[in-house]
Amino acid sequence: ASTAEMTKPGGAVGMGKVAPNQAKSNLFWWPEQLDLSRLRDHDSRSNPLGEDFDYAKAFAELDYNALKADINTVLTDSQDWWPADWGNYGPLFIRMTWHSAGTYRTMDGRGGAGGGQQRFDPLNSWPDNASLDKARRLLWPVKQKYGEHISWGDLIVLAGNVALENMGFKTYGFAAGRDDDWEPDMVYWGPEVVMLASDRRGKDGKLEKPLAAVHMGLIYVNPEGPGGKPDPVGSAKNIRESFARMAMNDEETLALVAGGHTFGKLHGAHKPADCLEPEPGGAPIEEQGFGWKNNCGKGHSEDTITSGLEGAWTQAPTRWSSLYLQNLLNNEWELTRSPAGAVQWQPKDKALHKTVPDAHVKGKYNPPVMTTADMAFKFDPEYRKIAERFVADPEEFRLAFAKAWYKLTHRDMGPIDNYIGGEIPSEVHIWQDPIDKPTYKLIGDKDVAKLKREVLDTGISTSELVRVAWAAAASYRDTDMRGGANGARIALAPQKDWAVNNPKDTAKVVTELKKIQQSFNEKSGKKQVSLADLIVLAGAAGIEKAAADAGMNVSVPFTPGRGDATQEQTDVNSFSLLEPKADGFTNYYSTEHYLSPAEALVDKADQLALTVPEMTVLVGGLRSLGANADGSKHGVFTSKPGTLNNDFFVELLDMSTKWRKAGDDGLYEGVDRKSGKVKFTATPVDLIFGSNTELRAVAEVYAFDTSKQRFVEDFVSAWVKVMTADRHDM
Ligand code: HEM
Repeated sequence: ASTAEMTKPGGAVGMGKVAPNQAKSNLFWWPEQLDLSRLRDHDSRSNPLGEDFDYAKAFAELDYNALKADINTVLTDSQDWWPADWGNYGPLFIRMTWHSAGTYRTMDGRGGAGGGQQRFDPLNSWPDNASLDKARRLLWPVKQKYGEHISWGDLIVLAGNVALENMGFKTYGFAAGRDDDWEPDMVYWGPEVVMLASDRRGKDGKLEKPLAAVHMGLIYVNPEGPGGKPDPVGSAKNIRESFARMAMNDEETLALVAGGHTFGKLHGAHKPADCLEPEPGGAPIEEQGFGWKNNCGKGHSEDTITSGLEGAWTQAPTRWSSLYLQNLLNNEWELTRSPAGAVQWQPKDKALHKTVPDAHVKGKYNPPVMTTADMAFKFDPEYRKIAERFVADPEEFRLAFAKAWYKLTHRDMGPIDNYIGGEIPSEVHIWQDPIDKPTYKLIGDKDVAKLKREVLDTGISTSELVRVAWAAAASYRDTDMRGGANGARIALAPQKDWAVNNPKDTAKVVTELKKIQQSFNEKSGKKQVSLADLIVLAGAAGIEKAAADAGMNVSVPFTPGRGDATQEQTDVNSFSLLEPKADGFTNYYSTEHYLSPAEALVDKADQLALTVPEMTVLVGGLRSLGANADGSKHGVFTSKPGTLNNDFFVELLDMSTKWRKAGDDGLYEGVDRKSGKVKFTATPVDLIFGSNTELRAVAEVYAFDTSKQRFVEDFVSAWVKVMTADRHDM
């Protein structure tokens, strides 16, 4: 079923039910309507710690070593309500950490360990996260003890590190800094309406964008193989595709899985259908947030059901070793089934069948096992080469796992400015998008005024100044805190060549600004201006002039301090993922985008952490400024383009204009009702502000005769918010 079917009036929502007595959203009745809720989520009023809570400060007050020691104690303090396999919760915690970080996807930067999202549904109840409800509850006494000084997001990651260290592994480092969320992120996890369904591949066989997992409710791939078929080579393809969407190459992928599956076991003692009650989200109130109540045998220990596969990969599942890869490569494997009926592999050599100590039953020994996904590393030629190298050189394997684990768990935190704590490695990695900090004296107010004059003296139009500053800053995305004006990467590959940036015209502006920068820096000695600062400053100069040309006096706040990145500090492949295939603010849309133009606008606004009014005022202002990416006139409803005025709203809401489709290319034209003459052309992004009732309500405010001042002030403050969205140093 499609999402549309699912939300049809009288249709099924979510897991197939519509709750009684529940107010129905407009999307229930009209699923095609634009959903603005993303721009209203994570309201600070939901945060019980209050708006002024400063997590970095609270973390600094923490006795970090005591915290780590307490987590370490929990690991081997087996609880009767969920006894630890081999007396050590380490493997369970590592899986918890990996699943919290592993939802991250490069295409839109959503998912990841930040926010402690795993404690909320839907992630809390995903089939792949079975039994992790227990892992987090085991950590609760520690969380309770340290309270707001350690966020759940950080604790979940740190627990994985402590687990690795407890079992003899030397980790690479840990940074705190993941502020907690208080509600689930609104993330599109896929089209399916049933957990574990998979209906997300296009005609080309590729996963629908921006998804990274293969099934609804799984972190990545099906362990039993593609569609449940034990096809290791097919599984390798799935793994490669999914892990690439999380920015992991073959070596990192193999290191991660081989390192992870060195520890712990799979759990599938019985058939889930015979034993398990609902996941946490559907469980009765007396379960107090626990799910998957298991009615078979003891309900835990040797009767545990999690994935439905059963067994451990190595003979020493609570110690770091190379046994996983040795077992995989040095043995012949045959298909078998777990007690739950899942397809898995065991060694052909019967001598190995009694070599893995049982996790709970003393004196019992089991065969080591592999999933079809594990077998992928044996049968895919590229993976196999790496596996052989790792087996031959355990230290190389160790370091590869340590670094890949560090990347996995810190990938969504943005620049290292956001890292806090005493275990941050000094080495900087290219995936952190490094930017050298200014070591020179920053420009002051007088310099700013002088530079603004010089910028305006070049004769570059206000439209161009604004467009380029916008293009630089709006590459930011709040989901993984990458991109932005800082670094001036708009002057570097790949960003300088993105269609959305109008490369030729941007190059001209950048060349002019570089001249100003050079001459300023030559003359001013210790004081310097970065190109990144100058681009933003030029945008401010453009806006001030554009406002003055419309009769409004306004000054655009500016804070220097951005640095310039080098090409060597810029991973072209990884930055290519940030390329906006749509930017409704500059009326740019490429059919490569996976969303409709208006949805893509809301998505972009969400990535810039904007509210509905901020999005609205920016679109209206940027139209009158004439900042369309391709220089088109769509949405430019003003006789004075290049000035900052509210004509966009006034004209859009003026009843003397009638709108109609203009041909088949998704554009519209506005005709004068009396004369029938075409006055304006527009995109769906322009017209949505008159059509959607909630956007229209805000557009009206900016069209008020009394709103001229409000419009300019709100525009400037939303503009500054975008220009400084990436200033984690501020
Ligand atoms: C357990 C699949 C990648 C760490 C499991 C289980 C499955 C699985 C089916 C059994 C869960 C249960 O029944 O309790 C996969 C697949 C992967 C993958 C298909 C990707 C191809 C990783 C990675 C890590 C990891 C990247 C960590 C770096 C673990 C650990 C366990 C585990 C430690 C044992 C948990 C325990 O003993 O309770 N994995 N996994 N896995 N996985 Fe993975």
